[in-house]
Amino acid sequence: MPALPNTSLVAVIGAGAMGAGIAQVAAQAGHPVRLYDNRPGAAAQAVEGIARQLARLVEKGKLDADAQRAIVARLQPADALQELADAHLVIEAIVENLEVKRSLLRELEALCAPTCILASNTSSLSITSLATGLKHPGRVIGMHFFNPAPLMALVEIVSGLDSDPALADSLHATAKAWNKKPVHTRSTPGFIVNRVARPFYAESLRLLQEGAADCATLDALLRDAGGFRMGAFELTDLIGHDVNYAVTCSVFDAYYGDFRFQPSLIQKELVDAGRLGRKSGRGFYDYAEGAQRPNASELSSDLSVDGCVVEGDLGAAEPLLARLQAAGLAVTRRDGAGLLRVGDAVLALSDGRLASQRAREDGLANLVLLDLALDYTKASRLGISWAADTSKLARDQAVALLQRAGITASPLADLPGLAVLRTVAMLANEGADAVLQGVGSAADIDLAMQAGVNYPRGPLAWADAIGLPCVLRILDNLQAAYGETRYRPSLLLRRHAAEGRVFHDQL
Ligand code: NAI
Repeated sequence: MPALPNTSLVAVIGAGAMGAGIAQVAAQAGHPVRLYDNRPGAAAQAVEGIARQLARLVEKGKLDADAQRAIVARLQPADALQELADAHLVIEAIVENLEVKRSLLRELEALCAPTCILASNTSSLSITSLATGLKHPGRVIGMHFFNPAPLMALVEIVSGLDSDPALADSLHATAKAWNKKPVHTRSTPGFIVNRVARPFYAESLRLLQEGAADCATLDALLRDAGGFRMGAFELTDLIGHDVNYAVTCSVFDAYYGDFRFQPSLIQKELVDAGRLGRKSGRGFYDYAEGAQRPNASELSSDLSVDGCVVEGDLGAAEPLLARLQAAGLAVTRRDGAGLLRVGDAVLALSDGRLASQRAREDGLANLVLLDLALDYTKASRLGISWAADTSKLARDQAVALLQRAGITASPLADLPGLAVLRTVAMLANEGADAVLQGVGSAADIDLAMQAGVNYPRGPLAWADAIGLPCVLRILDNLQAAYGETRYRPSLLLRRHAAEGRVFHDQL
């Protein structure tokens, strides 16, 4: 089915943050829009708010004044639900309550034409449950925008058990025509983004709880090495811990307590203390006026190194060598098991084992483990950990090597998988399971994580680049280290690795 023509009337119900944003998006795409809210005056106020925002764009020269007037003229506040009777598409963005939404849908079914599409912007309710009891459940579908709707590109098109597939295609095309990046997904807890993103928060919270490093160091690693816009602590402080913790709890409960989604006690404690993040003035960080943001832990060395020996293939860390060479270091290559030797130190990319365990099992003295970087040729920081018997000199030599290439080393306690590597491995694992369970395609899952939460790379494409056998080994080792089902690798990851396949063929 093609996109809805932009002459078709779009009705938006609920004139809060989301409804107003969605109404603006539809009007900007050329649709006549009617906005209704059961709070008297709210819809008219929202239209005034949109007009003011668009006027600011005109002042900044980003929007033509005629275009602004035309968009605002297409936005009509409605005083009663009955005024939406001739809509072709209704998008509800009212309070997140199953019974209230269901009763609204029943009213709409009685009011609107049988061909009218009934879409919900719900972020956590089941589209299947919303449609239950309607005469035509096939026309109920999720259209999940992200906040703020005019700026965020992603729209998850969510199909319930009864949703008409042709409608899902039509809304997908419609969202595209609205300049959005739509993805198809099935109505499962968290849809794509709120499910696949859980390990981003969970791994940092766990690392903090286990004393791997402090918040500032873990955030800096995700930013400066991982290429994420924000680390998990600054991001959850921004989202609000009440909101982020509630989403985690709802996904955890919906998956019958699957430990992959286990909420964090330290985040719960923040919620209990009312430290909700920026909005309450304090979360993991202090937002009081004049409060200083703590610095990330960094190591430095006075040693000078001028060469290193590389044995075998360093795997995902291989691009580091070009950077070392560009910094004037002599790099000698020989066969071996993926190790980088400098002075007494033996460096290697983590494989998910503890440094001390790997040192003992592989008979390596002075082992220093490296964390993952999105791009080793550009990263300004890298996490390192070391075995209990690694000498101070070897550590200094490893730090000096990285320093020479312009990379700051941040220390992590000896924990399996370091910080960025285990976060990315767990994101990819969740993405793989979502593909396995038919929640979305690999392409849509990667697109959703990039367009919905600004990840620097889709987790599945990232896993392809690291190498699926390597990601599988990291997860197997994490699971063995913790003895928890939380780290169990997805069957699809194991199958792809065994078959020599990847998630995206065209890398
Ligand atoms: P909000 O509280 O800002 O706005 C909801 C609006 O709906 C209010 O103006 C309220 O008066 C109105 N309303 C409530 N019951 C109504 C009814 N029976 N009929 C007509 N109007 C009614 O909420 P927000 O944040 O805009 O969220 C709306 C929906 O969008 C929820 O389902 C939420 O889960 C979802 N959502 C929210 C996101 C967010 O970041 N805030 C992101 C994506 C989805």
